[in-house]
Amino acid sequence: MSGTRTGRTPTGRAGTALRSCRQTAERAPRQGPDPASDQAPGQAPGQAPGQAPDRSPDPAPRRASHGTPPQPSVTTPRQPTFPHDSTLRAALAAATDDRIIYDLDGIEAQYAALLRELPGVGVRFALKACPVDEVLACLAQLGAGCDAASPHEIEQALRAGVPIGRIHYGNTVKSDRNIAEAYRLGVRDFATDSLADVAAIAVHAPGSRVFCRLATSGEGALWGLSRKFGCSPEDAVLILEAARTAGLTPAGLSVHVGSQQMTSEAWQSALELLAAVVGTLNRRGILLDHVNLGGGLPALGVLDKRGRPLDPPVDKMFAVIREGVQRLREVSSSPLDFLLEPGRHLVADHGAIRAHVARLTARREPSGEDRHWLYLSCGKFNGLYEMDELQYRLEFPTHAAARPSGTPGATVPAVVAGPTCDSDDAYAHEDGLVRVPAAAASGDPVWIFSCGAYATAYMTQGFNGFQPLPYTCVRAGAASPGGSS
Ligand SMILES: Cc1ncc(COP(=O)(O)O)c(C=O)c1O
Repeated sequence: MSGTRTGRTPTGRAGTALRSCRQTAERAPRQGPDPASDQAPGQAPGQAPGQAPDRSPDPAPRRASHGTPPQPSVTTPRQPTFPHDSTLRAALAAATDDRIIYDLDGIEAQYAALLRELPGVGVRFALKACPVDEVLACLAQLGAGCDAASPHEIEQALRAGVPIGRIHYGNTVKSDRNIAEAYRLGVRDFATDSLADVAAIAVHAPGSRVFCRLATSGEGALWGLSRKFGCSPEDAVLILEAARTAGLTPAGLSVHVGSQQMTSEAWQSALELLAAVVGTLNRRGILLDHVNLGGGLPALGVLDKRGRPLDPPVDKMFAVIREGVQRLREVSSSPLDFLLEPGRHLVADHGAIRAHVARLTARREPSGEDRHWLYLSCGKFNGLYEMDELQYRLEFPTHAAARPSGTPGATVPAVVAGPTCDSDDAYAHEDGLVRVPAAAASGDPVWIFSCGAYATAYMTQGFNGFQPLPYTCVRAGAASPGGSS
């Protein structure tokens, strides 16, 4: 994901786009008994059916030789279910090696659900969230366009079958060469937030349409995107006036409320801001034809840093957006179309990783505490880039809780970490430990859910020699198109 995070700044080395990942398109095995089918909704990994989630600290005695250090919380998260979980589970069960799996049916259903919530709003999928050809192609076939952040993304969207008229250049940061290349590829809609950028668009993409991104506070989001992008309302007026003078069409306004936005109030404020600026522009004789509400809609199945379900109020968000759209239509002097640029909301919950246990260890910390560490075969640099800001639901299918009528085995609270020699490659261990099977052994499969967003694009090209995960796209009823790339 692009942008300044409100939490830690991403390390640059993880930003290398994955191009070498092997692509396979498989038919998910038809549903036999689900290996986790006796796992009730709300039941956590390592937790017996019907057993209440254990949110208490580890009852095992801990030795603290230098006073009592603050105890990290230990959670065994609630287990949400998604309508298409069964397809992913079947594919995870069938996988014999590490890979990331995308459920195309699930992504399509998510897209359809979004359109039902926000009828008439055009979707430009933020392809940075999942630059996977099959995903782009299936969304394109349903009518989605793409929010592209670079000429390479524009090329990928075109290859996947997205019509050029449904692709815009949504990155406010671009060089002259980027603009000229996008123009050559046929793009005529550009995001902007500065006079310098508008002047460059006028030279290198003459006659194009521009939409100006307004800054938002980013409050309420896990990643605020508030510093690097967007301008003030006053500057937006100057920028769109300058665009008009330079022969461009001042076509719209945009916002981004911050990624994994958790509050409906953020949408409320953004929509009020948009209404005010539309009014000012209209009074200056600038009539817009669209408003772009950006990304920010949340994933539903991820957990916070401490392992608690995030539970975003999506129904309220949609209600606020519907009302705000209506209000904007009323205040605008010109008819407005509305666009949305969802990224994670469409794909996060429909992607899962099959990884394996590298090692479960126990070591004494400098504080004197005994601490378990569960090292996985994948982490921040090969699939779980956001692991320092959130946690993913984990399942250990060969351990008790996932076995039909199995008896839960013992669990231990552990810091979950990736395989590299980098200490950032771990969950935020000062905050939240995860209960994992005490008997977890090297090689045991681990299923990691709701990690379909910002995974493939944020894998390094082999940091520490750990290669990017191959990916597979699955459907319940039919093979997805494609082959090896
Ligand atoms: C311009 C733009 N639009 C949309 C998105 C997608 O955001 P999200 O994944 O939070 O929906 C991003 C993410 O960085 C972005 O930069």
